[in-house]
Amino acid sequence: MNAEHSELRILVTGGAGYVGSIVAEELIRKGYKVVILDNLQQGHRQAILPEAELVIADICDTEALERFFCHHQIDAVMHMAGETVVEYSMTDPKRFFRNNIVGGINLLDTMLKHEVAKLIFSSSAAIYGQPDSTPIEEDHPTITINSYGETKLMFERILKWYGKAYQLKHVSLRYFNAAGASELLGEDHHPETHLIPNVLKAAWDKDSHVSIFGTDYPTKDGSCIRDYVHVIDIAQAHILALEKIEQLSGNAYNLGNGEGYSVLEVVEAAKKATGTDIPIEISPRRAGDPAVLVASSKRAKSELVWKPEFPEIEAIIASAWSWLKKHPRGYEG
Ligand code: UFG
Repeated sequence: MNAEHSELRILVTGGAGYVGSIVAEELIRKGYKVVILDNLQQGHRQAILPEAELVIADICDTEALERFFCHHQIDAVMHMAGETVVEYSMTDPKRFFRNNIVGGINLLDTMLKHEVAKLIFSSSAAIYGQPDSTPIEEDHPTITINSYGETKLMFERILKWYGKAYQLKHVSLRYFNAAGASELLGEDHHPETHLIPNVLKAAWDKDSHVSIFGTDYPTKDGSCIRDYVHVIDIAQAHILALEKIEQLSGNAYNLGNGEGYSVLEVVEAAKKATGTDIPIEISPRRAGDPAVLVASSKRAKSELVWKPEFPEIEAIIASAWSWLKKHPRGYEG
């Protein structure tokens, strides 16, 4: 327990979800007090450590938010609640605008009313759309190609104006592809849409396969390229951003390892990590997917002093595999 942090109480919205639960775990490890607000629609009660308090509520419910802030003394907020699956954002954008924008504004307005003035925002590489050059720096143009990315970009802009007018201190963290697991917590979505858990499920379940969404992209092997970043390293960046929020307020930081792996390369790396053959099936492109997303995280490294502990894809996949072996049916199992 770090005595310096023991009195700071952090609200983690979406703290029962994949990234949120591991951010909460790292905060607890550092000695912060953690309160989680989650509607449990996508999150899991089992992903909440006993040290954290859970309040089941939706950020779209303004009365529930008001009650929450009346009953909890909060020093800062890490905002991860919201819709995240790019594919769904193409077919049901209203859900994304309602939860990510309307819900987000409800949260900000209730925070301001209760004089909570620090927020770390879970943003995304999706704000860059289809980038014209990689590695992507933070000042790269933002021309979004899916409504998920649009909501993340809009919310970053909302934060800028709330910062100017109401002195809200805020830092946005633009994650590239969050992956991997901690000892206790991992990735469990229903349905699972993300590549690494799907590849590992195909390794675990001998009768299944993983679909490769598109092999006709302008990349070295035709499949999409992504920059995978360990979820624990993402969590550490949140804590660094919180510690430095007074100096760094208003800034946005890319979080990636600067190495791009194609979908087919991820399958090969997973075969090595698991020692298993993984059957693939070539499928059509998935709507809303850019060909290549690779980060330059120079700014996070110099200003946040972020040093990823697990930059290697092998270590990222191995941690996810080790979690899956302990939880073959996810949290419910
Ligand atoms: N893919 C497959 N088969 C699968 C699942 C995914 O081929 O079964 C492909 C996708 O088409 C994509 C790549 O693997 O090309 C990565 O897909 P993910 O679904 O794992 O991740 P995304 O890149 O779509 O999105 C993730 C997060 C977003 C975030 C984005 C930033 O879900 O929130 O990373 O890079 F914005």
